[in-house]
Amino acid sequence: MRHLLSTTDLTRDDAVDLLDVAEEMAQVSEREVKKLPVLRGRTVVNLFFEDSTRTRLSFEAAAKRLSADVINFSAKGSSVSKGESLQDTMQTLAAMGADAVVVRHAGSGTPHRLATSGWIDVPILNAGDGTHEHPTQALLDSFTLRRVRGGLPASGPAEGARGTDLAGSTVAIVGDILHSRVARSNVHLLNTLGAQVVLIGPPTLMPWGVEEWPAEVFYDYDDALAAHEFDAVMMLRVQLERMHQSFFPNPREYTRLWGLTPQRYRALPGHTAIMHPGPMNRGFEICAEAADSPRAVVLSQVANGVAVRMAALYRLLMGTESEGRS
Ligand code: CP
Repeated sequence: MRHLLSTTDLTRDDAVDLLDVAEEMAQVSEREVKKLPVLRGRTVVNLFFEDSTRTRLSFEAAAKRLSADVINFSAKGSSVSKGESLQDTMQTLAAMGADAVVVRHAGSGTPHRLATSGWIDVPILNAGDGTHEHPTQALLDSFTLRRVRGGLPASGPAEGARGTDLAGSTVAIVGDILHSRVARSNVHLLNTLGAQVVLIGPPTLMPWGVEEWPAEVFYDYDDALAAHEFDAVMMLRVQLERMHQSFFPNPREYTRLWGLTPQRYRALPGHTAIMHPGPMNRGFEICAEAADSPRAVVLSQVANGVAVRMAALYRLLMGTESEGRS
């Protein structure tokens, strides 16, 4: 594996391997020695053209726990505001000795462009590109689901999840599917790992051709809840910043029809985990009762993001034994 651009590039074995390495990393994070020396002397650049809290900080924490040096680049306050191009920005990073670039960009396909441009010859990790994909988010979601499915602690050190996939699981992804790179990456990865995916949302926030996706589609939340016993319900943020104002959903109507309200939350089976990639719009797509409940694994998802990103950096920079790299 040279880059991590899309979950469509991962076979079941690739995905299980990354989740298994992340399990090892989750053990390391809890030990007395909190750093591994494996990436000492390497430089990881976090190149963020869009805002982020979880992804940027956890990539930084992941790189530091592997003893890499980290350069954080935020487009705000950089020479991008003076008109510097993506090509010149990348070539500047190459000249500084970057060994891997983690990129978030509003343009769908930007990480793929960087990986094929020849401007820089290092692994590229997609940290979210437009409405396209967010592969490490999907990996941390599957890591969390695998734990929950196995009756294990949702985060922290645990034994027993290694080698398994998500066959037999049913996962609902609910809300603004249209603008969600998290939904796209999860639909691919969950299918690869054998889970059944159910997409739920208003017709206006479903992508064109969604019926062709490998998922069951519901336009009525309560019909979907009546039809399935979900292992997890993954609520999505309504991405108002990607919508024209005239297309904003009416908040009260959205919450009533598509929100995880107290009523829907209380009617869920006792084993259903509540997931959200964050940041959450409390009171809009998810009620505080659900977000703060013991069944919510939202903060475990954040914690698992560090272990999963350690695994991704480790595999991309160190390779596998079969690749003969070290
Ligand atoms: N889930 C996620 O990508 O969050 P951030 O935007 O805070 O990175």
